[in-house]
Amino acid sequence: MKAILLTEPGGTDKLTISDIDLPVLQDSEVLVKVKALSINPVDIKTRTGKGVYGRIKEQAPLILGWDISGEVVDVADSSSRFKPGDEVFGMVNFPGHGRAYAEYVAVPEHHLALKPQEISHEEAAAATLAALTAWQALVHQGQVQPGQRVFVHAAAGGVGHFAIQIAKHLGASVVGTASEPNTGFLKGLGVDQPIDYRSEDFEQAVREVDFVLDPIGGDTTRKSLNILRPGGKLISIVGGATEDVQALAQERRVSAANYLVQSNGEDMEQLAALLATGKIIAHVSHVFTMDEIAKAHEQIETGRTIGKVVVTVDGD
Ligand SMILES: NC(=O)c1ccc[n+]([C@@H]2O[C@H](COP(=O)([O-])OP(=O)(O)OC[C@H]3O[C@@H](n4cnc5c(N)ncnc54)[C@H](OP(=O)(O)O)[C@@H]3O)[C@@H](O)[C@H]2O)c1
Repeated sequence: MKAILLTEPGGTDKLTISDIDLPVLQDSEVLVKVKALSINPVDIKTRTGKGVYGRIKEQAPLILGWDISGEVVDVADSSSRFKPGDEVFGMVNFPGHGRAYAEYVAVPEHHLALKPQEISHEEAAAATLAALTAWQALVHQGQVQPGQRVFVHAAAGGVGHFAIQIAKHLGASVVGTASEPNTGFLKGLGVDQPIDYRSEDFEQAVREVDFVLDPIGGDTTRKSLNILRPGGKLISIVGGATEDVQALAQERRVSAANYLVQSNGEDMEQLAALLATGKIIAHVSHVFTMDEIAKAHEQIETGRTIGKVVVTVDGD
């Protein structure tokens, strides 16, 4: 099968398309023929020796990627809840070795859900790592309730655009930040109060927030403590809740914590139900082929992506 290997940490020139053997299924795994996969900032971090590189570097050949949508072609156990022909999607083995940049991927079945028929493989692949991050942060970590006020930084990005929609689905009102050309995109997804972070100081614009999702870090995390109501919570997905920030949060009677998304098929099923009914949509702004993997990485590296970047996989 065709797969994109990471030969060593570095630039996009270290991603090479090769022919390798099909993966061998372990217990409880299913073999998925990939139709589309999506790219995340952690792919770029890992490619350059950061991200989860340290966790997977001994497991050659290294294959980046975690987000897939495709069709089940084989199952390890006859009692599997999936069967050949099922269309599935999910985030594979994160934060371990996903090996998703390939025509076929071996996936623990409990990382997958059935793909809603109403959406394409491109949309499904897009609604995996980024959507799960938003779901787990808002639902499990934040326990966001109807009527609460949720603040989403970088709301036009992969995680942010899902977080807006999930917060609205949970019955919250949503404040989101983006640069001016993207504030219309935020409104279209249901944001009640868009903030152009380049011309407006978010600290002055809002107060009494119940929950902040922070994909930015640094000063943004620290300043975000000032907009929380007493008892409010901040989740940083970029390690912004340092010991200093956590101590400051405690002084202000709010809380701040870091979070790393985990593969989870039950959460994928919840997302599948929302995607099927159009309660959330995956906005795919760029689609590339496997041969264009360097371009796909370069798009994410701009830091300006709206929604998601997807790669289509066109195996035999
Ligand atoms: N811990 C975890 O489990 C986890 C999971 C997923 C992602 N992450 C991390 O979270 C970060 C975001 O991921 P992502 O997939 O959403 O990235 P992304 O899609 O590449 O984010 C791009 C978006 O960020 C916005 N942006 C950039 N700088 C901004 C700023 N200063 N204020 C507000 N918006 C800004 C851009 O909007 P404008 O062009 O309008 O500025 C753009 O739409 C990455 O560092 C990623 O590695 C962590």
